[in-house]
Amino acid sequence: MKLRIPLAAAAALCLALVRPVLAQAPEDQLPAAPGKDVVLRVCTACHGADQFAYARLTPDEWENEVEKMQAAGAEMTSEEAAVIAAYLGKNLAKPPKP
Ligand code: HEC
Repeated sequence: MKLRIPLAAAAALCLALVRPVLAQAPEDQLPAAPGKDVVLRVCTACHGADQFAYARLTPDEWENEVEKMQAAGAEMTSEEAAVIAAYLGKNLAKPPKP
């Protein structure tokens, strides 16, 4: 019976150690916001989210990038393309010039 608490503590410690690693799963590189699910579904078919998660572009540049990916073979409806461009332009925006 005395073993119960240390075992629970060990289990909790294991979870605490594993969680930071899980937090680095590719989908967590993108900020949570409307459209993220579409971005993940459409934009990680050929490369990982890390291909663009750290890019910072203006909304126009993101629109171009989405068109470029469509030309490369990315499959999406025009509705999805708009959702993706809006998500990227808003959440992975280039900081304004100083
Ligand atoms: C059909 C496959 C495919 C899909 C789907 C796809 N990409 Fe790409 N992506 C590529 C290829 C191929 C490259 C070029 C890789 C290289 O040159 O090393 C690339 C490169 C990129 C780059 C690096 C810059 C550049 O232009 O080369 C970014 C940013 C990018 N993709 C964003 C996206 C986004 C956003 C989406 C979702 C709209 C997306 N990709 C979906 C194939 C795809």
